[in-house]
Amino acid sequence: MNHLLSLETMSVEDMRRVLDLAQHLKANRHDPSYQPLAGQSWAMIFMKASTRTRVSFEVGVQELGGRVLYLNSADTQLGRKEPIRDTARVLGRMVHGAIIRTFAQQDLVDFAHFGKIPVINALTDDEHPCQVLADLLTMIELLGGYENKKVVFMGDGDNNMSKSWMWAAEKLGFDLVICAPPAYQPSAEYLAQFNSGRITCEPDPATAVAEAHVLYTDVWVSMGMEEETKKRLADLAAWQINSPLVKLAAPGAIVMHCLPAYRGQEISEECLEAHADTIFQEAENRLHAQKAILSLIAESR
Ligand code: CP
Ligand code: NVA
Repeated sequence: MNHLLSLETMSVEDMRRVLDLAQHLKANRHDPSYQPLAGQSWAMIFMKASTRTRVSFEVGVQELGGRVLYLNSADTQLGRKEPIRDTARVLGRMVHGAIIRTFAQQDLVDFAHFGKIPVINALTDDEHPCQVLADLLTMIELLGGYENKKVVFMGDGDNNMSKSWMWAAEKLGFDLVICAPPAYQPSAEYLAQFNSGRITCEPDPATAVAEAHVLYTDVWVSMGMEEETKKRLADLAAWQINSPLVKLAAPGAIVMHCLPAYRGQEISEECLEAHADTIFQEAENRLHAQKAILSLIAESR
């Protein structure tokens, strides 16, 4: 595994290897003899805000023996429009890898090309692969696996999270229902990329969650879309995960949220607190999944 740019481009074998290694690393978190990043420096280029991703990568790289440099747009020349390709050519001569959170997916592709060092997608407008790998790890822990499970992605069905979920369902073999009003469903062109029959759209929440094992949601206003806040909150108001909806899912269904959560919007306060153990286990799993990603990239160099 040389990069993790997206789940779209990640092989099924690498997904499985990440999930297997993540379980091992979680069970052996403080093994001081495992230092695959010893002597390495990794740049973290973050053009958007972050709590979980930043902290889990900083801690993860350090636990694997490496060090990180946190670089944001305000403090680097990227904020003054230095091209990504020039930044990549500089950093590529100095650091061993780059963890990037930005807007355009193409910026990651360009960075990998010009920097010639491993690049990990820490969220773009197109995908959030590290989050979904951590979510799959959580499904393995709580449900015994993801195969043939039914996941309902509720709310904004056309964002970075829903897209990473679609690629995971297509490649790993579980059912994914995108439950969103028509204007917030993925385009027909996007859906045409999938031919497993595992991915469907169902606008009615009660119908969508029937027999579901996982109810999943994300913010209704992704970073960069703040101007649409008022419209989105109104348009998506009926697509909230709440306790009455959970009761319509399969017995023992779990509720997941990538966080940050906006109580009273995509999830009710009561429902979030009732499922907090799952949701914060999911957040912790970012660390373990990403340590596995970093380790497998280091191993292949
Ligand atoms: N879920 C997630 O990526 O959280 P942050 O935006 O806090 O990193
Ligand atoms: N869709 C959200 C995910 C946040 C982790 C966003 O892009 O803001």
